[in-house]
Amino acid sequence: DEESLGSLKKKLAELFEVSLRVTFPTETDVEPLVAVCTGNFGDYQCNNAMSLWPRIKGKGTAFRGPPAVGQALMKNIPPSEMIESCSVAGPGFVNVKLSKSWVAKNIQKMLTRGIGEWAPKLRIKRAVVDFSSPNIAKEMHVGNLRSTIIGDTLARMLEFSNVQVLRRNHVGDWGTQFGMLIEFLFEKFPDWEDASETPIGDLQAFYKESKQRFDNDHDFLERARKAVVKLQGGEPKYRKAWAQICDISRKEFDKVYKCLGVTLEEKGESFYNPFIPGVLEKLSNLGLMEENQGARVIFIEGISIPLIVVKSDGGYNYASTDLTALWYRLNEEKAEWIIYLTDVGQSQHFEMVFKAAKRAGWLPPENNSYPRVNHVGFGLVLGEDGKRFRTRNTEVVRLVDLLDEAKRRSKDALIERGKDKEWTEEELEETAKAIGYGAVKYADLKNNRLTNYTFNFDQMLNDKGNTAVYLLYAHARICSIIRKSGKEIEELKKTAVISLDHPDERALGLHLLQFAESVEEACTNLLPNVLCEYLYNLSENFTKFYSNCQVIGKPEEASRLLLCEATAVVMRQCFHLLGIEPVYKI
Ligand code: ARG
Repeated sequence: DEESLGSLKKKLAELFEVSLRVTFPTETDVEPLVAVCTGNFGDYQCNNAMSLWPRIKGKGTAFRGPPAVGQALMKNIPPSEMIESCSVAGPGFVNVKLSKSWVAKNIQKMLTRGIGEWAPKLRIKRAVVDFSSPNIAKEMHVGNLRSTIIGDTLARMLEFSNVQVLRRNHVGDWGTQFGMLIEFLFEKFPDWEDASETPIGDLQAFYKESKQRFDNDHDFLERARKAVVKLQGGEPKYRKAWAQICDISRKEFDKVYKCLGVTLEEKGESFYNPFIPGVLEKLSNLGLMEENQGARVIFIEGISIPLIVVKSDGGYNYASTDLTALWYRLNEEKAEWIIYLTDVGQSQHFEMVFKAAKRAGWLPPENNSYPRVNHVGFGLVLGEDGKRFRTRNTEVVRLVDLLDEAKRRSKDALIERGKDKEWTEEELEETAKAIGYGAVKYADLKNNRLTNYTFNFDQMLNDKGNTAVYLLYAHARICSIIRKSGKEIEELKKTAVISLDHPDERALGLHLLQFAESVEEACTNLLPNVLCEYLYNLSENFTKFYSNCQVIGKPEEASRLLLCEATAVVMRQCFHLLGIEPVYKI
C-alpha cells in the first residue's frame, strides 16, 4: 500500500521544496539544502535561507535578513507527522526535530515488513559493475583483492537498492602474452591435445618459464608473435590451446571468489574482440580517428598524449577493447551506470576512454548525468614497512594464502578462549571463517578507498576498535540478549509497541532510520567506508543505549527488545552489504 521510506534527508527535502515554492514562487531553480544537524538544536537542518538572501535582497524583498527568511521557510513547511518541532537558529538555519513516535512507527514497520522497507530509492534500473578482472595466467594477488571486495560491496548496495547489476569480470584473456604461452605449450608438451588432463600444472611456473624463453630466444619470440596472429585469426588449434590455458586460471580465480562469497560473470577482453572493428568504424565516421606515427589515435582535450586505438602493427589494445566494451554496455546491455574498479594507476586510461566516448556523443557532457560512468580508483595495499605488500619469500602475496592465514589466526583466538570445548568443530570452523574473511574485507572497506592501506593481521583481528571482529561480537551479544530474555521476537513484533522515551533510545532509533541514507550516500558517492562508519556508529549508539537503559525485567522490556532486534537486523544488513557473514553467538 504505502511507499517504502527511503532516505530521511530526501523526505525532508520534499517538505522544504514545498515551502520554498510557496515562500518564493519566483525562485523556481532553488533546490532544498537539507543536512544532518551539526549542533543539538535538532536532527536535520535546512540551509537555504543564507544563500537565498542575497538573491532576493536585490529584488526589493520585504524580508529583513536571512533569519526572517528562515522563519518564513519554517512557517510554510506543510504539516507532516514526521516533524515534532522546528526552530530557526543563528543566521537562518531551520532546525527540524523529528517526531519520536513517527521514528518508532517506522522501526516497527521495518520489523514486520523486512529491511527492504529501508532500501534507498535510486533513479536507475540497470548498472554494470566491472570489477576484480584479473589477468589470465597470472596469480590473483593482494592488488586484486581491493577491486574484488570494493566492487562486490558496490554491487551489493546497488542490488539492495533494486538496481539490476551486471557483475562483470573483465578478465585479461586476450593479450599478446598468449602467443608466448601457446607456443611454449606446443614446445614443452607436444602431446598436449591427447592428454586427458592439462599437462601444464602450475600455471605460474609455466608462465615464468615461457617468459624466459621469450626473452632469450629470438626464434621462439618470432614464433610467439605468429601464434598471436593465428589465435586472433581463429585457427582452431590455437583457440583450443588458449581455452585450455584460460581454464586453468579460471579454476584458480573461482577458488578465491568462493572463499570471498563473490559472484561474477566473466565477459573478458576476448568477448569484445569481434565488435572492435565495427565500433572503431563508428568512431571513424564521426571524424574522431586520426593517424599518428603509423597508429590510429583519438585526441583528447587537455591530455597531451592521444589514446591509441589501433597500434602501428594493426593490432588492437586495452583501449580499443575498453571503448568497445563501453559501447556494448551502453547499447547492447542498456546500462545506465557503468562503474570500473581498478587501482588509481589506471585513472588516466579511463579518463581518456570516457572523454573519447563523450566526444562521440555516447555519454552526456556533464559528469553526473545518465548514462553515467565512473572509474573507482583505489590505493595500494602496503606492508608493515610502508612498501608494497609482500611476504618474505614470494614476490606477490597470494590471495588464497592471505585468507587462509586470517582464518587460521581467528580460529586460534577462538580456541584460546575455550570455544573448541563449547562448540562443534563445524561451528568453530564457520565462525573462524566469518571472522577471518570478514576482518580482511572490513579492514580494506573502512578506509577511504583512495588512500593506500597497510595490511596488518594483528590490527584487523583485534576485538577492540573499529574492526569486523568488534562489530561481529557486538551483533552476537545483541542476539544473546534477545535469547536470554526468553521472549519470542516474532510474537513481540505483533503485540508490543516501540516507544523511544529515553534520550538514548531516541538516538538509537533515529540512527536506525538513517540506514537508508547511509547506503544511498555510500553507493552514489562510491564510498563503502561511509557504510562502515554508519555501522560502527550504530554499534556505539547501541552500547550507549544498553548501558543506560536496562532491558530485561523493566516495564519497557518488550519495546527495548524490539529495539535490540531492529539493531541486529540493520547490523546484519550492513554485514550483508559489506560481504561479511554474521555471527550469532560468541
Ligand atoms: N585486467 C586489468 C588489470 O588487471 C583490469 C581490467 C579492468 N577493467 C577494464 N574494463 N579495463 O589491470
